[in-house]
Amino acid sequence: MTELLSVDKVSVRYGELEAVRGVSLSLAAGETLGLVGESGCGKSSLGRAILCLEPVAAGRIAFNGYDVTTLKGAALKQFRRQAQMVFQDPFGSLNPRMSVGSAIEEVLFVHHIGTNRAARRERVAALFEDVGLKTDWLNRYPHEFSGGQRQRIGIARALSLEPKLLVADEPVSALDVSVQADIIQLLKRLQRERGLSYLFIGHDLAVVRDMSDRIAVMYKGEIVETGTSDQICDEPRHPYTQKLLSAVPDIDKALA
Ligand SMILES: Nc1ncnc2c1ncn2[C@@H]1O[C@H](COP(=O)(O)OP(=O)(O)OP(=O)(O)O)[C@@H](O)[C@H]1O
Ligand SMILES: [Mg+2]
Repeated sequence: MTELLSVDKVSVRYGELEAVRGVSLSLAAGETLGLVGESGCGKSSLGRAILCLEPVAAGRIAFNGYDVTTLKGAALKQFRRQAQMVFQDPFGSLNPRMSVGSAIEEVLFVHHIGTNRAARRERVAALFEDVGLKTDWLNRYPHEFSGGQRQRIGIARALSLEPKLLVADEPVSALDVSVQADIIQLLKRLQRERGLSYLFIGHDLAVVRDMSDRIAVMYKGEIVETGTSDQICDEPRHPYTQKLLSAVPDIDKALA
């Protein structure tokens, strides 16, 4: 597998606080790397840094072999097309006063995709269908959708620029369990069909295991252990990973 993303000794600082401390990881094309760890350990900060939404205080992030930490202007915009975020709560990132169809159309417009409005509309409609939404709903507003539907909209928007990488930051954590399963299945299918790479951030180890090829365990800003999902869940080495696993009450039952 070709390496898509390579993070090398990256740190993220908020003033005095070093939220991410010298983290290194890599992600191959078509692969899913799960990222777990307790609240506040730096998962989202790392995810945002990878998407250049947060400046890095140190280290290098290479995407397709090119350092992206210093990108600006047109080059940064070009990178945005290739790496996108799926948020835990897409509602917070959807404009409440814009129909969901228009919101995605605008993303395409900004990136000069589609020759005219009709072409963009058609593209958004196709995306909508691909994520399991009815095209009749394109003119509706965010508040008219359920949590699961909104997450599908968030996914459609993230995919609208045909990225190679999605950073999914707790994409199912706010959803009911039955809806979680649907969104996980959707993400898996889209990955298969489009050859996407995922950085999948989560706190539910059963979900992260199910989703990921490999898992990285983060603790206080550092990655303390990385391995295949089975290794991390069945033979955890680091005491913190063991603690994290023992905090899951019925992991075998949850995975059955
Ligand atoms: N914009 C910010 N300004 C200042 N401090 C921040 C900012 N964002 C995060 N932090 C702090 O950085 C640390 C890491 O936060 P981060 O959100 O990356 O953790 P997380 O692992 O994603 O947590 P959670 O599981 O709760 O989402 C925390 O101490 C947090 O309070
Ligand atoms: Mg977070």
